[in-house]
Amino acid sequence: MFGSINNCHNVKDFRKLAKRKLPSPIFHYIDGGSDDEVTYRRNTESFEKCDLIPDVLSGVNKVDMSTTVMGQKIDMPLYCAPTALQRLFHPDGEMAVGKAAQKYGTMFGLSSLGTFSIEDIAREIKTPKLFQLYVHKDEGLNRSMLDKAKESNFEALALTVDTAAGGNRERDLYTGFTYPLKLSFRSMLDFVLKPSWGINYITHKRFELSQLKDHVAEGTSISISVGDYFTKLLDDKLDWKKAEEINKYWGKPFAIKGIMSVADAKKAVDIGASAVMVSNHGGRQLDGSVSSFDQLADIVDAVGDKVDVICEGGIRRGTHVLKALSLGAKACSGGRMYLYALAAGGQRGVERIIGKLREEIERDMILMGVSNIKDLTRKNLRFR
Ligand code: LAC
Repeated sequence: MFGSINNCHNVKDFRKLAKRKLPSPIFHYIDGGSDDEVTYRRNTESFEKCDLIPDVLSGVNKVDMSTTVMGQKIDMPLYCAPTALQRLFHPDGEMAVGKAAQKYGTMFGLSSLGTFSIEDIAREIKTPKLFQLYVHKDEGLNRSMLDKAKESNFEALALTVDTAAGGNRERDLYTGFTYPLKLSFRSMLDFVLKPSWGINYITHKRFELSQLKDHVAEGTSISISVGDYFTKLLDDKLDWKKAEEINKYWGKPFAIKGIMSVADAKKAVDIGASAVMVSNHGGRQLDGSVSSFDQLADIVDAVGDKVDVICEGGIRRGTHVLKALSLGAKACSGGRMYLYALAAGGQRGVERIIGKLREEIERDMILMGVSNIKDLTRKNLRFR
């Protein structure tokens, strides 16, 4: 059974299987961070800075782990963050992830750089949906994405704010990863060695960036790296005033994704955001920046009574979620945690990893003696 998703019990197992299945430029695009990948590693390592203190003999045998994020009730405090280019990892892409999120009653995020259209996702996925906006220089494109997300009843919008320039993703430079794929001789060899990926790629619907294809050539007919895409196409003048205008135009639950300082969290409150996503873009942008978990307590103390604070990045275990909730996060979200599973096994893979993480959260809450996530507090944590 080696190589089957049934043998994958955690994110690490799925990562290994994804590595075996994907051509290496694609695997390293998912797996990599920027510069020396210090922040990428620290996002997970920082959860080790504190330990959980369980209460015993509490009689807890059933738990309620539901939570409300941006007005949406979800059945578990962990959801699928928006990530780009998913049909490159598996032909069912975002649709598979959305269906898996739906099965577990949690939220699903669709990226501006998604490979299914807003309308297609809205037609099939009824679990709470979040649209993630990259503000482009092309205003017509921004307007079209916002209007489509609104008309398609996406419940919430997340404005990504940590991409003023492209991160220095050196793994992509070594492998030559661009999209659409443009391959060097070396990476071509690797594609030949992963024939099942190649067959899927050729036999399924042509890869497209559905939100962008009618507006920009990059990413559809012109190959470009993600770093160059951010630098060249995203609005480098994006500021708080524009963020506020976008929030007003959107008029529904609105999150700023990529907040790292207390001062910025307060500004997000001032412009009327309903949530802040404490995130450093999975360590793919500013390397050496602080980890999400390390900033969480200060941000919760400053704005946690006014907006939902979400901890994003580095989540690999149920206990990571418990620690973040104990510090006051409303929920956690992650990208790679489900992307490896998508690459390894499509919808079934994603269902399996969400299911495993759900089981972990449940088991860990029982072992902590806590029946409701509201009872997870800082008293449950000891920092070393
Ligand atoms: C990334 C984007 C596109 O590669 O979110 O980080």
